[in-house]
Amino acid sequence: MTEKLKFPKDFWWGAATSGPQTEGRFNKKHANVFDYWYEIKPELFHNQVGPDTASNFYNSYKEDIKLMKEIGLNSVRTSIQWSRLIDDLETGSVDADALRFYNDVIDEFIKNGIRPIMNLHHFDLPVELLRQYGGWENKHVTDLYAKFAKTCFELFSDRVKDWFTFNEPMVIVEGGYLYDFHYPQIIDGKKAVQVAYNLQLASSKAIAEFRKVAAKDAKIGIILNLTPPYPASDESEDLKASHIANLWKNRLFMDASVHGEFPAELVDLLTSEDAIWTSTPEELALIKANTIDYLGVNFYHPDRVSRPEFSTNSLAVDWMPDKFWKEYHMPGRRMNHDKGWEIYPKAMYDIAMDVKENYKNIPWFVSENGMGVSREERWMGEDGVIQDDYRITFIKEHLYWVHKGIEEGSNCFGYHLWTPIDCWSWLNSYRNRYGFISNNIHTQVKTIKKSGHFIKTVAEANALDI
Ligand code: NOJ
Repeated sequence: MTEKLKFPKDFWWGAATSGPQTEGRFNKKHANVFDYWYEIKPELFHNQVGPDTASNFYNSYKEDIKLMKEIGLNSVRTSIQWSRLIDDLETGSVDADALRFYNDVIDEFIKNGIRPIMNLHHFDLPVELLRQYGGWENKHVTDLYAKFAKTCFELFSDRVKDWFTFNEPMVIVEGGYLYDFHYPQIIDGKKAVQVAYNLQLASSKAIAEFRKVAAKDAKIGIILNLTPPYPASDESEDLKASHIANLWKNRLFMDASVHGEFPAELVDLLTSEDAIWTSTPEELALIKANTIDYLGVNFYHPDRVSRPEFSTNSLAVDWMPDKFWKEYHMPGRRMNHDKGWEIYPKAMYDIAMDVKENYKNIPWFVSENGMGVSREERWMGEDGVIQDDYRITFIKEHLYWVHKGIEEGSNCFGYHLWTPIDCWSWLNSYRNRYGFISNNIHTQVKTIKKSGHFIKTVAEANALDI
């Protein structure tokens, strides 16, 4: 017996991607941090494949958007690259070719009946700003970013009605300043704290510009990667560890973006560790005054958390956020074999309830969810179509819990898979494929997968059969 789950009217059925992962470096004025990192250390990237061609969107956006339409997507997120649009990073002047390109892309989406959703930062800081100012460590960069954002609103908000300031700011902090998987590969807990604060400040400054210049029917939010923490036991040490992990990993940006304030408990903890960021009362007032209209939630995996292995007092190391907790794999749990990530769809429901109960039931959507699979051509049929039933199952399981959250009153208005067309992914390059549409990176031939046909039926019916 199948059951039909109906979704709310005008639900966003779509997929998410980003400029730096699709466009390729063609005709680009500045290098972003990943372009540069690949120039100096190609050996770090899977099979030494960098972002130079990516999925060739700069040249093939018309055909690519047509494919997205063919699989029934009504909304797609990508991003405007700061390092492409802006000619002079200090004055903020606009590059004419880039302007033409982004205008064409936006028009092409609209022509094909797809709502274009634009994000303004997807791990792609122009590298000159890192060299000159120390990147996100420096508050001047937050002003330059707000200027870039303002330019985007002025140029495009007549047609783009949905904006996001940052994708996964916590990943910029963790990758670049704690765990060494993004450039500039600094490992320094105190710098990480300041960068986190500065990213929030930059987001709020962009929102302040948005309120002044954007078209009145446009909205703005932020996209956060949420990893709901589940404590290892009910013992107070595990509960405390999980609570602190949540404060740092999820609530820092959630609270500041939705409520306009950082969690007081986190501020106290950072202060007692002598690791608190520098802020001014004016900046805090600006953050308070410029909260988001809606939220994007990227969800991939939960966070299993236990107490740290050593007593925190005995750690003779500099301050690091994660000295208060330990993450572990729970034996027997279903894993996404390629990434080592646990598959736990019910977390979608827990997020839905958290947003409902603790975040004013703000409108939100699943801005990314997905399954990375390596050597996916293993599942290609003779007709060239990848039979990705595992992805269909994964999507259905997550949608089931999203739907349950909606039934219980959570204000979720969409679901986006990462990603429409297999694209380049940072150090992993093309190792894991996530798309509804495959991409042969040698020939750039793009072919709809079984999941692409599946999502079309879901989007057309605005309902899921389970
Ligand atoms: C999160 C990021 O937003 C995106 O850039 C990345 O490629 C996917 N997840 C897959 O890991």
